[in-house]
Amino acid sequence: MKIFITGGSGFIGSHLARHLLEQGHEVKVVDLRKPSIEHKNLEFVNKSIMDELAEDIHGCDIVYHFAAMLGVDNSDNKPLETMRINLEGSVNVFKSAVEANVKRMIYASSSEVYGEPRELPIREDSVKGPVSAYGVSKLASEIYAKAYNHEFGTDIRIVRFFNVYGPGQSDNFVIPIFINNALENKPLRVFGDGSQTRCFTYMEDIADGVLKVLEKGKAGEAYNIGNNQPTTILELAQITKELTGSRSEIIKSGFGKETRLKEREIEYRVPDISKMKTLGWEPKTIVREGIKKILDFRRNNKNNENN
Ligand SMILES: NC(=O)c1ccc[n+]([C@@H]2O[C@H](COP(=O)([O-])OP(=O)(O)OC[C@H]3O[C@@H](n4cnc5c(N)ncnc54)[C@H](O)[C@@H]3O)[C@@H](O)[C@H]2O)c1
Repeated sequence: MKIFITGGSGFIGSHLARHLLEQGHEVKVVDLRKPSIEHKNLEFVNKSIMDELAEDIHGCDIVYHFAAMLGVDNSDNKPLETMRINLEGSVNVFKSAVEANVKRMIYASSSEVYGEPRELPIREDSVKGPVSAYGVSKLASEIYAKAYNHEFGTDIRIVRFFNVYGPGQSDNFVIPIFINNALENKPLRVFGDGSQTRCFTYMEDIADGVLKVLEKGKAGEAYNIGNNQPTTILELAQITKELTGSRSEIIKSGFGKETRLKEREIEYRVPDISKMKTLGWEPKTIVREGIKKILDFRRNNKNNENN
């Protein structure tokens, strides 16, 4: 198959691209930056998702739409740009695929669409109430995807990722921040008492989940892809400190304008993954193992650099 991946140079997109190339597929990546991998079956198109893409998509069998402007804090500072890239960009990708006669698509959405959950665990049909510009942009694109399925007979499947982590993640997410600080014995800061939970999901589990949705999922459906074992941020800091053998102090820091707004903080979030289980998927990597894998990856890369 020939697979078109927007955002294919990013953290999750590049991991999936590697996976697909290993399986013998052809991959075409659209991104603003060059992929870090090179492969005879990998083609790179240096374009924005805001550009005309129909000609580029033509001849592909499936579109994975992963490009986005990320981060809750980042998007709150740039709400208009977030809506432009995440919503207009998504609609442009869906529209271009329809023009290129490609109907099968995967749209990478986020647990942020749920906001503060009204029920736990969160099912795919639970009430949505995003509390950030980022979450709103992801939900609005989902609604467009459904409208496209209805109007143009596309099969856009929605995958809602829960706090993805792994080697190669950009430094402004909590796990790389904790690891970097712990390795330098700098303080690890948690907001409030650190009791807020997240369901950190290792990227290999994410990649497996996406492939399962494609292989066995239903047309036009949404799926939660997340670890259903919550970890508090305080536990995360403790695990990171222990695994790195760090002398870092864990500091509890108040919410506020300069740090993190309390209203923006989701306290407790855990996905119901029974729909994914019907496809034969379950997360395999617990957070402790995932952090170990990141540390091993970093060590190996450092050794390779030194050789
Ligand atoms: N990382 C997570 O925890 C997480 C959680 C939930 C959902 N998601 C979703 O998964 C997808 C991938 O996330 P990621 O973590 O790999 O992010 P990432 O920032 O590593 O990758 C995004 C890629 O999109 C590219 N991009 C941004 N704007 C673009 C534009 N206008 N045109 C073309 N390319 C553009 C970037 O250059 C980057 O390579 C996103 O849609 C994100 O919303 C991620």
